[in-house]
Amino acid sequence: MLAGTTCEMNAGVDWAQVREAYPGQHPLLNLNNAAVSPPPLVVEQAVIDAYRFVSKNPDVNMWTGLDATLPDIKRQLATLADCDAEEIALNRNASEGLSVAIFGIALSTDDRVLVSPWDYPSALGGWQQRQAREGIVVDTVAFDVLASDEEIVAAYSSAIRPATRVLHLTHMLHWTGRVLPVARLCALARERGIITIVDAAQSFAQMPISFRELGCDFFVTSLHKWLGAPVGNGMLIVNRRHLRETWPLLAPFDATPDTVDKFDHWNLGTYNSALQAGIEPAIRFHQAIGVGNIHARLRALTRYWTRRAADIDGLRIHTPLEANTLGAVSLFSVDGIDAARLERTLRQSFSVHVKYRRVGQLEGLRVSPHIYMNEADLDVFMDALHAAVKDVT
Ligand SMILES: Cc1ncc(COP(=O)(O)O)c(C=O)c1O
Repeated sequence: MLAGTTCEMNAGVDWAQVREAYPGQHPLLNLNNAAVSPPPLVVEQAVIDAYRFVSKNPDVNMWTGLDATLPDIKRQLATLADCDAEEIALNRNASEGLSVAIFGIALSTDDRVLVSPWDYPSALGGWQQRQAREGIVVDTVAFDVLASDEEIVAAYSSAIRPATRVLHLTHMLHWTGRVLPVARLCALARERGIITIVDAAQSFAQMPISFRELGCDFFVTSLHKWLGAPVGNGMLIVNRRHLRETWPLLAPFDATPDTVDKFDHWNLGTYNSALQAGIEPAIRFHQAIGVGNIHARLRALTRYWTRRAADIDGLRIHTPLEANTLGAVSLFSVDGIDAARLERTLRQSFSVHVKYRRVGQLEGLRVSPHIYMNEADLDVFMDALHAAVKDVT
């Protein structure tokens, strides 16, 4: 039904049909898909069916029924991410995957870790905890979110010290949607024997990505953002050369295996396996459209609304709009206007949901449409924004 697989153009995809395949938006126009996205209806139904199946006999139907499908789900995810199925652990979300990687890498006092101020706050919190508890040193690299890729690579390069053991990288910054040159940064790290963690929570399934081409050691993502899997699914990829030496965050029931299973969600104890029943239909839905088509569509939607907003006095876009890596996520502000107040006005007076974001000196409203949205939705947003800006001026 949804033609097209990998081509760069949107040719052949019926976006009106895609929209019909999702739940209706209620109560707000949802321009905060970067936080969490709705699943397609077919995914929602798969979870409902699986939950009913579980209820009939949880012990048997979860652990010997639904969990038996995990190897196949991992094989399909491995194709999507370009890694081995034996390198994939399934968990609840990117936050969990980040903690597994951050707390699992063996480090000694005075080993150094390099982060940026734009990394996800709970990742920074994890490293700060290790600094406080174990005496590792957390260094922070400084760069502007609108700097060129060359400037960013140079900033990381000069911030690396002889004792740097880990480079913590975010592929697409959740603050602004800026995509960092992580493949180049991973290459830089490899030359110096430094372990890399790539937080791909915003980029996985939003744009073409290959774990092998990135060349990182740990790769973390949620599956409930751009893949459209049910809320409560995440994936951690651990390069097989690190499986043995990485500590699991949760104590396994059996003796700790040297396989990726030690990072899987079943180490949590009892878990609702019905949630994972939606992963496979989400992959099928995503593949039927094609990640190249999805990325091109999301980029086109961002360029559509930002062009329509260009006549607003004092408008600033904090995301490089011309970059090929541009996707659904961007951040804007309007000079002289309190962004938090603008967010409230959009929500309360116009039923439009965008996200106020503030980090360091950077402050604005994050906008993130999804493939179930269209230009007419963005026209509603634009009419609302023009009116809201007048209201709060
Ligand atoms: C870059 C990044 N990392 C990690 C996360 C955490 O994702 P989750 O809420 O699925 O744990 C997010 C969520 O927005 C994110 O944008």
